[in-house]
Amino acid sequence: MRAFPVIETERFYLREIKDTDVDEVFEMRSNPELMRFIPRPICKLKEEALMHIHRLQKGFNENDSVNWGITYKNETKLIGIIGYVRMQQENYRAEIGYILNKPEHKKGVMREILKPLMHFGFAHLNLNSIAAVVDPANQASIKLLQANGFTKEGHFREDCYFDGQFLDSVHYSVLKSDFDFKPFNI
Ligand SMILES: CC(C)(COP(=O)(O)OP(=O)(O)OC[C@H]1O[C@@H](n2cnc3c(N)ncnc32)[C@H](O)[C@@H]1OP(=O)(O)O)[C@@H](O)C(=O)NCCC(=O)NCCS
Repeated sequence: MRAFPVIETERFYLREIKDTDVDEVFEMRSNPELMRFIPRPICKLKEEALMHIHRLQKGFNENDSVNWGITYKNETKLIGIIGYVRMQQENYRAEIGYILNKPEHKKGVMREILKPLMHFGFAHLNLNSIAAVVDPANQASIKLLQANGFTKEGHFREDCYFDGQFLDSVHYSVLKSDFDFKPFNI
């Protein structure tokens, strides 16, 4: 991909994440409640949030990942991030990940965005399968995945070592052949 692919849903734009989004990225990545089920270091400094943005930009430039910033259509402020990481071109597979700022939780933001993102993955990134790896206690994420046709593939015991602890993870996936393309006029 050369130009960054902007995606539009009823209420939201999904766009490139820029250095100027650093305050919102810091707000999310420094919140222990939001990071509870994301086994990555919590940001303590704004510079770390900026480094995170640069990692996301590099991932896109090198075709390793693509991450979108989520905004309401009438605002520029970032309210969340969603994207494909660990893209395996040889297997036509990628892993989806997302985080939404706390004030926006339980307003159906992800419910609105996930399907268009899945459509983009299957139709434009040419994926055959999309994976999601979640903490077994992350009810919000599990409910979201199940509501969008993801199937549980397995529960891996203590397969992730983070911050001095071994953590379980549950793997979900959805196949292109499971996806209903009709609402997208394909
Ligand atoms: C996971 C997350 C993105 C969900 O986003 P959201 O926009 O609040 O979710 P939605 O409002 O679209 O709800 C989607 C479904 O999950 C359910 N849900 C949302 N939050 C929930 C919670 N805390 N507990 C249980 N169910 C929850 C909703 O009821 C809804 O189900 P329904 O369609 O059957 O009503 C959000 O909670 C988040 O950012 N969490 C922190 C980061 C994180 O854990 N990311 C995932 C790592 S795998």
